[in-house]
Amino acid sequence: MILYKRHKLICLIYIYFIRIYYIGIVFLFFFDIIVVRVYIRSEIMKIAIGADHGGFLHKEAIVRFLRDNGHEVRDFGTHSQDSTDYNEYALDVAKSVSNKLYDRGILVCGTGVGMSIMANKVVGIRAALVHDLFTAEATRLHNDSNVLTMGGRIISIDKALEIVKIWIDTDFSKEDRHVRRIDKISEFSEIK
Ligand code: RB5
Repeated sequence: MILYKRHKLICLIYIYFIRIYYIGIVFLFFFDIIVVRVYIRSEIMKIAIGADHGGFLHKEAIVRFLRDNGHEVRDFGTHSQDSTDYNEYALDVAKSVSNKLYDRGILVCGTGVGMSIMANKVVGIRAALVHDLFTAEATRLHNDSNVLTMGGRIISIDKALEIVKIWIDTDFSKEDRHVRRIDKISEFSEIK
């Protein structure tokens, strides 16, 4: 087939634009991957978790749930249903959050009460005892709670997972009145 100069020119222009088009597509494709990765990373949290024997089964289910959802989880134990004191687990988790090694902490004992009392001894910790979905959301919006405590003898594993999901997914509202109130809590952390 004879290609006249005009046809050659049209072919060249065509190839040129197709090339730009495909390079553009490839570029956008890689750009999309980067954006998606950044987006996914921003959703991933580092979470410290602990339980005593009263919360062991709940803790195991929560660890699986969080890992399945891409979060990085450090399991501080306990690793069986044998009787044990909640104090060490609460301190390990609370200190790792306070020292910013982990973004948030989750603690489960029989009632959640011992864990919350102990965790709240650590400076910078705002541990919230939660057994319902409303409180799970409210304590993130209003208190910027950084540790969640629950009672394995009070709520089912399914309910605990629902609470964890809302608590993890809810951002602090950053509204002035809530920031002011949290600042007042921080001021009192040095008082005996
Ligand atoms: C253990 O029996 C129980 O006291 C503990 O799990 C927790 O409920 C304490 O607050």
